[in-house]
Amino acid sequence: MVHPKATTRICFLPAISKTRFAGLLLVTLFVVFFYLAAHESPGEIVVSGKFNFVATPPKPFFKRFEAAEHLNCEMFFEKQDNSTHQEIKVEVDLDKLEFDMNCSAIMKQNFFSRTPLSPAEASFPLAFTKVVYMDYLFLEADLASIYAPQNSYCFSIDLSADWKFKSRIHALSECFPNIMYATSEFDVDSAGHNMHASQLPCLEALRSFGPWKYVALLQNHDAALKTNAEMVQIYRWLDGANDVQLRPPFMERLNQNLDWTFKGLNLFKNSTKNTDQKIALATGYNECSLSRAAVEYIFDELNVDKLVYQLNIGGYGIDEFLFPTLQSDDAIGLPGGITRRCIDENVIHFFFYFTRRSIWSHLPPCDCASRLWRHGICAFGTEMLAELENWPVLFGNKFIPSMDYGAFECMRERLFNRSYAVNRRLPEDTLNDSVYKTHLTVRYNQERRMSNFDKNKFSCNYQHTG
Ligand SMILES: *[C@@H]1O[C@H](CO)[C@@H](O)[C@H](O)[C@H]1NC(C)=O
Ligand SMILES: *[C@@H]1O[C@H](CO)[C@@H](O)[C@H](O)[C@H]1NC(C)=O
Ligand SMILES: *[C@@H]1O[C@H](CO)[C@@H](O)[C@H](O)[C@H]1NC(C)=O
Ligand SMILES: *[C@@H]1O[C@H](CO)[C@@H](O)[C@H](O)[C@H]1NC(C)=O
Ligand SMILES: *[C@@H]1O[C@H](CO)[C@@H](O)[C@H](O)[C@H]1NC(C)=O
Repeated sequence: MVHPKATTRICFLPAISKTRFAGLLLVTLFVVFFYLAAHESPGEIVVSGKFNFVATPPKPFFKRFEAAEHLNCEMFFEKQDNSTHQEIKVEVDLDKLEFDMNCSAIMKQNFFSRTPLSPAEASFPLAFTKVVYMDYLFLEADLASIYAPQNSYCFSIDLSADWKFKSRIHALSECFPNIMYATSEFDVDSAGHNMHASQLPCLEALRSFGPWKYVALLQNHDAALKTNAEMVQIYRWLDGANDVQLRPPFMERLNQNLDWTFKGLNLFKNSTKNTDQKIALATGYNECSLSRAAVEYIFDELNVDKLVYQLNIGGYGIDEFLFPTLQSDDAIGLPGGITRRCIDENVIHFFFYFTRRSIWSHLPPCDCASRLWRHGICAFGTEMLAELENWPVLFGNKFIPSMDYGAFECMRERLFNRSYAVNRRLPEDTLNDSVYKTHLTVRYNQERRMSNFDKNKFSCNYQHTG
């Protein structure tokens, strides 16, 4: 267990007497004992923060990043205009900036609500995990956009991130009872190696951390495009279905000579289920949303260690197999999943999903009005805000502070307005419910709950909208 406070205490030891030392040691042992007793997975996760309460909770306020103060954000949302914004890009290297990281400084920078904003949100807590390595201020601001005291948040920090970034994430978690980070760090590369090793401790720890109903798995530069209230409404419409993008597997990315049978993978905790049947691999983006029941199932019924290990041996994009495979292999039977037959039958190559959207240079619509590209993905610009606001997805990838931080600042101001305006409109009035309710996985799970359900007769026909 690496706990920053404990490490600091050791530094003072040589200066004190032996009796005092013994006393202090005893106290420390007690503290450690109670700390461990109160947390299910010591060695993995640090949950330390308490709200640093000031006497009266503050009123909602929004502070734009200084360099973006001059932008007329509201105008960008009125209509898409490709031509005029290039010259006013705010480009900033956030991690070079110096600022105070004590709790009262954090609370002054962004507004973090101390109370749920509506009964619908209070009764439907969410959880978020994020693998992070850079742009701390962006992460803090994005967190504030969807922060709610009933939610749970867990950061997985990349091993290769610099110490200053890491200490900032640690300091952030110190200030909140519902923000934690995994102390185990892995070197996550762009091919996806160690992505799951990094995510799974957070996912497992979240189980004993709040009564959340859905968890979204995210990466560093994903940012919210919806408010917490809107996300809650969307997840309610998903009605227990997981939201995982699904495609036929890119088998060439994996070592096919390994043993991919349930038995070889030792996938089920109930060993009689570990037959010689091969697991039906599928591909899809790593970012996804899982229902609570799905996460409980993954840790209570399955043993994904060997599967994760074998996937990690592969070459490129190997973080894009685990959740799609669990989601669609009928023999695994994940709650909120779907039948594999729909992947094989469905002609739609890029299976639509809601958790996150990127614009790729090599895939339609490849329509990047900002013309800012990073590793083949469009970095959003201010000229795209009107379009982004109409996307039905929860998160957008990517906002890059060094390319157009103004786009992000305007987006989160918009979310702040939608969350806190006195005359704010209800999510069900701003979202198009049929986009979500008619989704194939939602329909599958609703039909699955009926007593006369026949998986083989389920129609995989689906015309995605939005
Ligand atoms: C947010 O609301 C404020 C106050 O009404 C307004 O001045 C501002 O333009 C709004 N921002 C956006 C991005 O719509
Ligand atoms: C916290 O940071 C603020 C600046 O944002 C500073 O004024 C204050 O002294 C700091 N408090 C402590 C206890 O360090
Ligand atoms: C283990 O799986 C077998 C085969 O599906 C089933 O019959 C048995 O009841 C399961 N055992 C437990 C303890 O769940
Ligand atoms: C704006 O960009 C979109 C997509 O890049 C394009 O379809 C549209 O024609 C452009 N409009 C103008 C006015 O350039
Ligand atoms: C809502 O989405 C459906 C498709 O799911 C579409 O047919 C309809 O026109 C949309 N309604 C609005 C108001 O945009």
